[in-house]
Amino acid sequence: MSAAVLPATPENLRYACELLHAGQVVAFPTETVYGLGANAYDECAVARIFEAKGRPANNPLIVHVAEPGHAEAIFRTVPESARRLMERFWPGPLSIVLPRSARIPAIVSAGMPTVAVRCPSHPAARQLLRLCKLPIAAPSANASGRPSTTTAQHVFADIGGRIPLIIDDGPCAVGLESTVVDMSGRVPVLLRPGGVTPEDLRAVLPDLAIAPGVLAPLPEGARAASPGLLHRHYAPDAAVTLVEGDPPACAAAMAALFDEDLALGRAPALLAFDDTAAVLGARAVYALGPRERPEDAASRLFALLRAAEADKRSHLYLEAPDDSGLQLALRNRMQRAAGFRVISAADAAPGRPL
Ligand code: TXA
Ligand code: MG
Repeated sequence: MSAAVLPATPENLRYACELLHAGQVVAFPTETVYGLGANAYDECAVARIFEAKGRPANNPLIVHVAEPGHAEAIFRTVPESARRLMERFWPGPLSIVLPRSARIPAIVSAGMPTVAVRCPSHPAARQLLRLCKLPIAAPSANASGRPSTTTAQHVFADIGGRIPLIIDDGPCAVGLESTVVDMSGRVPVLLRPGGVTPEDLRAVLPDLAIAPGVLAPLPEGARAASPGLLHRHYAPDAAVTLVEGDPPACAAAMAALFDEDLALGRAPALLAFDDTAAVLGARAVYALGPRERPEDAASRLFALLRAAEADKRSHLYLEAPDDSGLQLALRNRMQRAAGFRVISAADAAPGRPL
């Protein structure tokens, strides 16, 4: 099989619907990343998603709905606090976890008693959901463990041989996956940071907690609040390291690491904010954009990891953002791409001038 890559015209969206109603999987754009969708009510169709991605059976999917009100049929109960979240942030890059209704087969949430739902804001995604009149279960449309896909071409490169159709509507605006909040317990818990920031959420949920494993690796043997916290994620085919420190220290450390790697016969590359990139000279640098516009870095990160991989870079050093606002999501994806390998700039290049 080789996927057809078709623009998001009404005709092609109708074809996507036909495939979904026939139990097939279809890749489609959302404002966060591309999704690999199937009819959430059809157990066999959902099994095809796990197969096409090579996704571990214990990692649950997110169910997408056309209208906020449609979430009521997917959840067993919706507390008032969750309703406030939906009103404030839907449609948009937020997934809400609540007890699963009996209509949704267990495979969708990997057997968990809860299910994650989100109402995307992307026009093509909403059109598709409206046309189908089905909830669509969809993880990110990448091969399991790889960086998420933010263009149809990236979807094709990862799983184009295993699915019939990719709806192409250009690059995704947010570029990082949705924020996931678990509303099923006594206190709301942030399971994955994303386009909706903790600061945004706290305006509605003052008691929001952050799950262990979001900011640092889970301690050995600890129970994960979400199966997604257990798996290796976002990793390109290169050794990835995060470099932490203030911008001048990062620039010096990244230059030193690059030069050392080159001397060892490796093919290093640096991902840095524009001001740091500007002082790194003729080294291989992929620019994340201005430091004060983390939304640019968010929309570029996965594409840059894939570009470095396509350029056969063997060792990547990523400049660490801090953890406020959208930078938390960026930092979380970088940490996970690096398997939590973080070095301090001060240790990497003590006192070394550029
Ligand atoms: O932006 C997004 O959320 C994209 C687009 C396509 O909508 N989807 C996406 O799905 O990123 P996926 O499957 O790659 O990530 C879903 C995350 C995983 O970390 C999973 O463990 C967590 O959500 N998750 C899903 N259902 C859950 C549940 N019932 N309880 C806890 N975590 C859950
Ligand atoms: Mg994913």
